[in-house]
This record gives sequence, C-alpha cells and structure tokens, in this order.
Amino acid sequence: MTIDRQGIFLTGVTGTLGQEMLRSLLERGAGGPVYVLARSSRKLSAEARVHKLLENSAVSLQTRSRLKILSGDVTLPNFGLGPEDLDLLGRDVQRFFHIAALTSLNGSKEDCERINLGGTRHALDLAQFLAAKGRLERFFYFSTAYAAGSRQKYHSREDELPAQPVFANFYESSKYQAETLVRAALAEGLKGMIFRPSIVVGHSQTGAVSQFNVIYPFMRLFAHGMLRILPTRLENSFNIVPIDYVVEAALRISEHDEFLGRAFHLVTPEPPMIGMLIEQKLEDYPDLAEVEVVDPATFSRESLAPEQQFIYDMLSPYLGYLNDELTFDTSNTQTALQKVGLSFPKTGKPFLRTLLRYAVDQGYLVTKV
Ligand SMILES: NC(=O)c1ccc[n+]([C@@H]2O[C@H](COP(=O)([O-])OP(=O)(O)OC[C@H]3O[C@@H](n4cnc5c(N)ncnc54)[C@H](OP(=O)(O)O)[C@@H]3O)[C@@H](O)[C@H]2O)c1
Repeated sequence: MTIDRQGIFLTGVTGTLGQEMLRSLLERGAGGPVYVLARSSRKLSAEARVHKLLENSAVSLQTRSRLKILSGDVTLPNFGLGPEDLDLLGRDVQRFFHIAALTSLNGSKEDCERINLGGTRHALDLAQFLAAKGRLERFFYFSTAYAAGSRQKYHSREDELPAQPVFANFYESSKYQAETLVRAALAEGLKGMIFRPSIVVGHSQTGAVSQFNVIYPFMRLFAHGMLRILPTRLENSFNIVPIDYVVEAALRISEHDEFLGRAFHLVTPEPPMIGMLIEQKLEDYPDLAEVEVVDPATFSRESLAPEQQFIYDMLSPYLGYLNDELTFDTSNTQTALQKVGLSFPKTGKPFLRTLLRYAVDQGYLVTKV
C-alpha cells in the first residue's frame, strides 16, 4: 500500500497533533482525497478554521484541492454527518485516523467520557460501517501512553492494558476505556493499529509547536514563580517526544500491514530527568523563577500558602507524569522503527534547550515577570 493514492479521513485536525498529521499528509505530494472532520468555532466555520491552519504552510493550492472538510462533532453518532457526506467517505476513504480527543488533564469525568469514550465509540461504529458498505481498509487510533494510568508502579506493555489501573485524571481513565473499545474491535476483525504517544512537545530541531498545551502550562506556572515547590525527585524522568517524530513514526508505521493489530509506544526510551530541565533553565534563563524540588515522601500540601495550595490542586493531575512510576515497553515500536527507517528521538539536554528557547522566543515563557 502507498499512502499517496488512498483516500484518508482524519479527526482532530485543528489540534496540535492533528494539524501536523494533516500538513504532513498533504505535503507528501499529489494523491487521493484527504477528508477531515472539524467543528465550527464561535467565529469561524469548520471550513474556515481548517483553511486558516494551512495559511502559512508549504502546502500548495493545488495540493489543498485534495482537502475535503466535513463539519461534525465526534460526540454525535456518525459524527453528525449526513447521508451525502457518509456516501463520500464510503466511496473514497481507505484509511481513517481517529485523533480527536479532549486532552485537558483537568477535564471533568462527564466531558472526558463524552468526547474520548463516546467519540471513539462513534469512530469505531463509523469505521465498521465504512468497512462494510464502503472501501475502508484500516483504522488508526491515537491513544496515549498514559492510558495505562500514571499513578502506580507499572511497566506498561504495548499490547495490553493493566487490569487494575490507577489514574491521575479523567483524561487517562477515559482514554483507557476508549482504548479498551478499540482493542475489542481489533480483536473482532477490524484492521488497524493503536498509537500511544507520551507527552508530545515541540519539533525536534526547532522546538516549534502550534499550541502550548499539556505540559507547557505546567512549566509556565513554575517558570513565572506562581508555584515554587515541585514534589518530585531530581532523578525522576518525564517522557516527552517531539511532535515531528510522533507524526512521522505513526504515518510510516501505518503503511505496513505486518503491524496490523498492534499498539506502539511512541515514547522515548531514555527520557530526560527533572534535574536536567532545571539545570538547563538555570544555564540559559537564570531569570526564570527558581524551582524547589521536594521529595514527595516528605511533601505536605498543607505546608503551602493557601493560594499556592489552590495552584497545586490544579497541577495535581499532572504529577503522575513526573513521579516515574509508569514505564514503557517499546518492543513493537523498536521493530517497527527499524522497518520504516526511523530511530527513537533524542530528548536530552540539547532538546530541552531547543524547547525552552522556542517557548521564550515566542513570549510564552517570560524571563522577567
Ligand atoms: N498532545 C499530547 O501530549 C498527546 C500525548 C499522547 C496522546 N495524545 C493523543 O493524541 C490525540 C491528539 O492530541 P492533541 O494534543 O493534538 O489534542 P488537542 O490539541 O487538544 O486537539 C484535540 C482535537 O480534537 C478535537 N475535538 C475535541 N472534541 C471534539 C469534538 N467533540 N468533535 C470533534 N472534534 C473534537 C479538537 O477540535 P477543536 O479545535 O474544535 O476543539 C482538536 O482538533 C488525542 O487523541 C490525544 O489523546 C496527545
């Protein structure tokens, strides 16, 4: 199979990962139609939002003519698409990437389940329908490495989920439930794969990222001195992956039928340590606020001033990503990367420097506040 001649359908293209997936697919040259699902915003139609994303990209006008924008919402059956749109998808689409999700780590149980679990249920129903009535051949699902739950010591294998996970937030639990549905559908014969990135951050060479989300707001609270105490250990690691690696690995692996039915940890096997980030920050940006790392075993929330307690509570859903309990097997990914000619990303101090520089240059992290 070559990716170019296939009709492709993507959800979540206005998000961080989805927009890079879309650009990358379009930049791969002339090929089949690329259908995308988007929601309208208060000010812009779904169509206008997606065109805006491509405004400053290298994607030529001719290539953009492959793009077909469908307005819909994953919380609705068939994403709320009408019979005409469903006919088009049935006629043209061989590969379906379900990327859309609510990624807020502070999201409510109801919202996370409605969008992540409900949305994936609708995606699977649609995939089954398109496989039976149309030309759909493959379904690719973006899960997360943290679907295994980040709050207990556990070595997560790629082709399973723990029977008794401990979650840090409703994002994780809803992604666990959603991945469970996808696994069941794959076991019952739907052909597809599951991609599980860890924390997606900026580009490996430039640090560029379209939206500072997930881990970035957390870093900002510390860099701007809003919270000074971080309950973790300097030697604890945090698993970040550059966005270009995630996109390239998922797209290339998805082309290989020998990997159907598998899940892939798109993580770094050598994650940086908290101490490295703090050192890099001190070397390059000594004016960013100081962070005091406190052993979680001796940390007490009550020792914080009331306003700091409030901020700490907002951060608690993130702490699972810094406590080093969840680790990741990468056997499937290692085999697949070798096959597609990629390597695991380098995420040491030079990469941290690149990420910090981009965030400071863009004015997201301000050195004197
Ligand atoms: N970023 C990470 O660190 C990371 C790590 C591991 C896994 N992942 C997974 O990768 C995928 C993409 O993550 P991301 O960081 O790119 O997320 P993101 O930036 O938050 O974008 C989420 C996307 O989903 C769309 N969406 C949300 N609710 C929707 C709905 N009801 N109907 C239609 N579309 C809806 C959003 O559309 P609007 O623009 O309309 O809101 C947006 O396009 C997710 O499945 C996530 O779980 C991400």
